[in-house]
Amino acid sequence: MKLWFSSIVIGSFLTNVSGFGVSSSKTSCRLSKSTSSLSMASSGPMGCRAIGIGSAAPKTIITNVDLESVVETSDEWIQTRTGISQRHVLLNDKTEESIKTLGRDAAKHALEMADVSPEDIDLIIVATSSADDLFGDATSVAAALGCTNAVAFDLTAACSGFLFATVTAGQYLSNPFNSYKNAIVVGADALSRWIDWEDRNSCILFGDGAGAMVLTTDDVDTDDTQTFGILGSSTHSNGLSYDVLKCDYEGSDVVVNTPTPVTLSKGSYNRLNMVGKEVYKFATREVPTVIREALDAADMEVEDVDWLLLHQANIRIMEVVASRLNMPMDKVITNLSDYGNTSAASIPLALDEAVRSGKVKKGDVIACAGFGAGLSWGSAILKWG
Ligand code: UT7
Repeated sequence: MKLWFSSIVIGSFLTNVSGFGVSSSKTSCRLSKSTSSLSMASSGPMGCRAIGIGSAAPKTIITNVDLESVVETSDEWIQTRTGISQRHVLLNDKTEESIKTLGRDAAKHALEMADVSPEDIDLIIVATSSADDLFGDATSVAAALGCTNAVAFDLTAACSGFLFATVTAGQYLSNPFNSYKNAIVVGADALSRWIDWEDRNSCILFGDGAGAMVLTTDDVDTDDTQTFGILGSSTHSNGLSYDVLKCDYEGSDVVVNTPTPVTLSKGSYNRLNMVGKEVYKFATREVPTVIREALDAADMEVEDVDWLLLHQANIRIMEVVASRLNMPMDKVITNLSDYGNTSAASIPLALDEAVRSGKVKKGDVIACAGFGAGLSWGSAILKWG
């Protein structure tokens, strides 16, 4: 295990300096030129298992029919083109529901399922692009949970956030040079706060929510890490295509007399801006490839996968990806219809429902993939339980 963790660290460094991707497995580490992006990192089994999952969504629901009075659209168009029927949204009432409270509740449910007490958590990563606090929500979520021994920080990778945070937590837990045993990975977003409600291309897609997963090194046989947990992963980013999905900074003028007047910037962000067709093309092109890379890192084939769990963005994207992997749609986990695209929350929200309904069982292999702004995309192969 020591050997392949070192490979990941060295690999990440090489990725940064040379543009070469790294692919490592339990027994080997190889460099390969990434053909599809500027950067890539992949790794084999990580020596930690997922033992708890939870989710939370705001109480308020906006249906497609409700949106017919907001923009020129129809329930029929939204359902046919996206597969979405409704979405949950936060109200402008910070005391009731927020990213922090949703993240806290999702993590609480995950801890209960895992039967791990908050004091035994060593690490909390909150993946979000829409934190309540610009400086991050992870420390507040940790405090609200009573995770007094955890180091907590936020991670921003848009709709790939939960996937990237899971891989990051897995690397912390696999690190033989620290003693981390338990981690919580939270994906929480409220893109309803950043949507242009006059833009029918995007306002129909997004909803708010949170999901969380508990990872542990307990009962992981280091001689046979293929048994459970994160079996393989692959992550990519490509900032050259940043423009197709962004929510960028735009401040207003504030004059400060120093005593010479200087015009500085008073912070705010633009509305979410998306070229939907380009994001669709990117996702259907890259997601099947990144899943195959992660399977390769896990030394597995598509035939070994029980469930396909993609970022819940559009049912048509899921259909294309499943078909490109030769997987039937009844192996695809989706709750998009009820929640819309909840960004970093979408994968754990859907996984929570699938586990609690009994659909996903202990030992099932789930090929997860996230994709979105950055551009960023990645896959992790999870053996549940
Ligand atoms: O988290 C990752 C983030 N984003 C995504 O994954 C989004 C990926 N992209 C998509 O899901 C799809 O591209 C959309 C759902 C955003 C759009 O679907 P589309 O099939 O690509 O539609 P389109 O942009 O090609 O538009 C087709 C028509 C256009 O009308 P004309 O020019 O053919 O007359 C649009 O103006 O549909 C129109 N249209 C709408 N009509 C009713 C666009 N949005 C709407 C709407 N209601 N909400």
